[in-house]
Amino acid sequence: MKNTVVIGAQWGDEGKAKITDILAESADIIIRYQGGCNAGHTVVNNGKTFKFHLIPSGILYKNKLCFIGAGTVIYPDVLNEEIENLKKENIDLSGLKISPLASVTMPYHIDIDGYSEDTAKGKEKIGTTKKGIGPTYTDKVSRHGIKVQDLFDIDGLSKKLDIILPLKNKELTQIYGLKPYSKELILTLCQKYADIIKPYISNDWQKIFHDAIQQKKSVLFEGAQGVMLDVDWGTYPYVTSSNPVAGGAFTGSGFGPNMAGEIIGVSKAYITRVGEGPFATELNDETGEKIRKIGHEFGTTTGRPRRTGWFDAVVAKYGVLVSGLTSMAVTKLDVFDTFNEIKVCTAYKDTRTGEIYEYYPTNVNIHEYLEPVYETHAGWLSDISGIKKYEDLPENAKKYLARLEELMGVKISIISVGPDRHQTIFR
Ligand code: GDP
Ligand code: IMO
Ligand code: MG
Repeated sequence: MKNTVVIGAQWGDEGKAKITDILAESADIIIRYQGGCNAGHTVVNNGKTFKFHLIPSGILYKNKLCFIGAGTVIYPDVLNEEIENLKKENIDLSGLKISPLASVTMPYHIDIDGYSEDTAKGKEKIGTTKKGIGPTYTDKVSRHGIKVQDLFDIDGLSKKLDIILPLKNKELTQIYGLKPYSKELILTLCQKYADIIKPYISNDWQKIFHDAIQQKKSVLFEGAQGVMLDVDWGTYPYVTSSNPVAGGAFTGSGFGPNMAGEIIGVSKAYITRVGEGPFATELNDETGEKIRKIGHEFGTTTGRPRRTGWFDAVVAKYGVLVSGLTSMAVTKLDVFDTFNEIKVCTAYKDTRTGEIYEYYPTNVNIHEYLEPVYETHAGWLSDISGIKKYEDLPENAKKYLARLEELMGVKISIISVGPDRHQTIFR
């Protein structure tokens, strides 16, 4: 298999993990390169469901190296829970590797994220997962972060904490009115975190990556979140704090951009979003409820009901552009099995001026004035969840997919018609 990057092309939860899990069979190395336990990745293998937050979705195969890369943020308590759950299922974790350069989420990051969300009003609210993601990345970028490698250098960590902790405690107490942390407590926690991570830390990652390139091993990059949640390219400020676009695969993994063979975007046949922010095709009606019910659209990480809406080709085209997608995987096509009509948004219309937008307007403030321009497609009204070949799909399903390809300007290489590995059509 060519080296492949799998990314979300919408607002997350597109079914990336299912696609990653299938492609992982032919990969040697699978690497998660950004995000943290805000991600909720579901893999269904022979009727058994696995949910991952930090561990790459390739872990269910034996003899694969599964990296948690430098661009990720790790909350060791959640990682530990994930590890313990997989051990109970007798999943082999000998291939799990953690980058010494990944950032560590500390309890104060969780405190700040929770407080900021709980006290935010109106447009201030982002609807984060409260997993400390934003505050951990903030500290990383402001150079006050703690990296995995720091957990194994107690002297260095102690000196670092002498600088960081007084500032952090000032922020916690004076800005947020939260409780401060003692250095002793943080050092004790860091010792616990080191014990969790120790069996998996990959201090030899440079040799492993070097050898992988020399031996032409195949690498699969697993994205979290999606293009529209990207901190640079998404619906800012209603985004996460990392780079889910394909470029993030290289800044976050330690492999260079010349490694990209295929870049597959994953999109649902409709769209969902959790949390706040613009969503042009959102359906606050019976149809939206029907999609939520049939598609089981509730968050993997937080359990929140996902907002649902029609496929937005303006968003898809934007993802193709900013991530250089070579093809798209369309998931959850089966959710439309009982729909008479299916709509697709082809552009936005400014209700003030009548102006038509064919490209994504990146200023979120104007979105309240935009309405989607729709075209309507006839449904196929049959059960497609057992179909294995593209030719066997109903004509109307094929027409729908062909139209999406035309609008997005990229081919659809994978079609998913159910959560299981086997419910997948390759073209
Ligand atoms: P991710 O975050 O992109 O990996 O996606 P999630 O795991 O959060 O959400 C996708 C959900 O859709 C999971 O519950 C999957 O099991 C499920 N799923 C994936 N592909 C399909 C599909 O083609 N059809 C149906 N019905 N469910 C799917
Ligand atoms: P996967 O990898 C869907 C959303 C949150 C919120 C915004 C910021 O499963 O697709 P954060 O906690 O990251 O600071 O929250 O991003 N969000 C996701 N939405 N899927 C995800 O991950 C998400 N990770 C974060 O709901 O709107
Ligand atoms: Mg998810």
